[in-house]
Amino acid sequence: MILDIKKFPDPILRQKASEVTNIDESTLTLMNNMVETMMSAPGVGLAAPQVGISQRIIVVNLAAAQQEVNIQQFINPQIVEVEGSETDEEGCLSLPGEFALVKRAEKIFLKAINDKGEELKLELEGLPARIVQHEIDHLDGILFIDRLSIYKREAIKKHIKKRVAAGEY
Ligand code: NI
Repeated sequence: MILDIKKFPDPILRQKASEVTNIDESTLTLMNNMVETMMSAPGVGLAAPQVGISQRIIVVNLAAAQQEVNIQQFINPQIVEVEGSETDEEGCLSLPGEFALVKRAEKIFLKAINDKGEELKLELEGLPARIVQHEIDHLDGILFIDRLSIYKREAIKKHIKKRVAAGEY
């Protein structure tokens, strides 16, 4: 099922999402719906708060850089270590049509739980690392515009207001 994607400034995007303590049928259904929603958008990552569910779940396409599909679903993802930094262009399904250069760690060491309840440890770099950092930010109520200079952030907010007034957002 394709879910409705919440757009900035929806307040749910600003909440800190709760840890998942129990993986049940509804968790699995949610994750599958999130994958379907991400693919149809189309997008390369989606966090549960973006579909109105304040839980620590993200889905990502780790092969986006190769224009291929390698979907991963992460529950309670945590970045345990970072290395380097890299600036690249980002967008967000919750701020459609807005893009900016965002500085992120180049490499991350990720810990998460998969859909079977097993603990995973992954090392990611480049675009996959960027996507995961962006999606984990969503779990903490952080949007990519928060990582920009105040000048750039205000310019994007103003642009969105204009688009709302024109019925284009
Ligand atoms: Ni996003």
